[in-house]
Amino acid sequence: ETKQEKQPLSLQLCAPRGFCAGVDRAIQIVELALTKYGRPVYVRHEIVHNKFVVDGLKAKGAVFVEELEEIPAEHSDRPVIFSAHGVPKSVPEDAQARKMFYLDATCPLVSKVHKEAEIHFRRDREVLLIGHAGHPEVIGTMGQLPDGTVTLIETEDDAHAYVPKSDRPLAYITQTTLSVDDTAGIVAVLQQRFPDIVAPHKEDICYATTNRQEAVKHVAPKVDAMIVVGAPNSSNSQRLREVAERSGCKISVLIQRASDIQWQDFEGVRTLGLTAGASAPETLVEEIITAFAERFDVTVETVHTAEETISFNLPRELRDMIAPAQ
Ligand code: F3S
Repeated sequence: ETKQEKQPLSLQLCAPRGFCAGVDRAIQIVELALTKYGRPVYVRHEIVHNKFVVDGLKAKGAVFVEELEEIPAEHSDRPVIFSAHGVPKSVPEDAQARKMFYLDATCPLVSKVHKEAEIHFRRDREVLLIGHAGHPEVIGTMGQLPDGTVTLIETEDDAHAYVPKSDRPLAYITQTTLSVDDTAGIVAVLQQRFPDIVAPHKEDICYATTNRQEAVKHVAPKVDAMIVVGAPNSSNSQRLREVAERSGCKISVLIQRASDIQWQDFEGVRTLGLTAGASAPETLVEEIITAFAERFDVTVETVHTAEETISFNLPRELRDMIAPAQ
C-alpha cells in the first residue's frame, strides 16, 4: 500500500451562509435585464462585492462602470443598474438628467436606512451614521442628505469625541453590514452621552449580517480553523472573519476561492468551520469542500442556527419576466 492515509477532518458548515435576499435580487435584476433588453446592460459599481459573480455577468453582457460618465454617449439609451449597496441621490438625478433608463438594485434594507435618514432630516434632527468610511453603502447613505449633513461615526473613539453641530435633537442610523458587537459598543457610548438620541425602530444591521455572525459565533469556538468565503472589499465577509477571530479561533481566514487556500495553514487542523459572506456564491463553498476532500478524509456537518425565508420583490419593470402579466 503506497497511498498515504488521509487525515480525518471534521468540517462544520455554517447555516445560514452565503447569498442574502438583497444579493439574490440584485443578481437577478442584472440577469433579467440582459434577457429583456439584450446586451449591453451597464452596471454602476460591482453589483455585489464578488469577482466571481461580476465576471459571470460580464460574460453574459453586463458592462461594469464606476460612474455614469463612463457610459459612451452612443449607449446612453441602454439600461443602467445601480448596485445593491445603494447610491447617493445625485446618481438617479444625474441619470434622469441624461435621460437614461435605470433600474435600482439597491437592497430594500439599505433603502429603508435611506428613508430613515430622510425622516430624521425632515424632523430637523442631526444625523449620525455608524459605518466604515469609503464603503459604497456609506457613500450612498450619506448622499441621501445634503453634503455635510450626516456625521460618520466609525469607532467608539469617534462616539466619545463627537461634538453636536447644534442643539437640535440627535438620531443615528447604521450601515447594514457592521459587526453586531462593535456597533452595540458604539451605540452604548452615544446613548450614555446623549440619552435622548433617536435609534432606528428596528436594527439597521440586516437579518443576513446578524444571522451569519451568529452562526460563526456558534461554530468558531469549537474548531481549529475557520474559513470565510468572500471578497476583501466585502464588508460583511470581513466582519465574519473578525467574529471568528474574536471567538478564539486562531486561524481565521477570508479567501475568495479554493486556489487561495494556503495549505500549510491547515496542516494540523482536525476541525474546520466554513461560512460565506452574503455576496459569495455557493459554488465557491463547494469548490473549497472539494479541495479539502482531496487532501483530507472529510466529514461535513451543517450547523443550523437560524432559518431564513425572506425574499424581495423585483423592480416593476422586470416583474413580467418571472410571472405572466396580470
Ligand atoms: Fe441587503 Fe443585508 Fe444583503 S442589507 S444586500 S440583505 S447583506
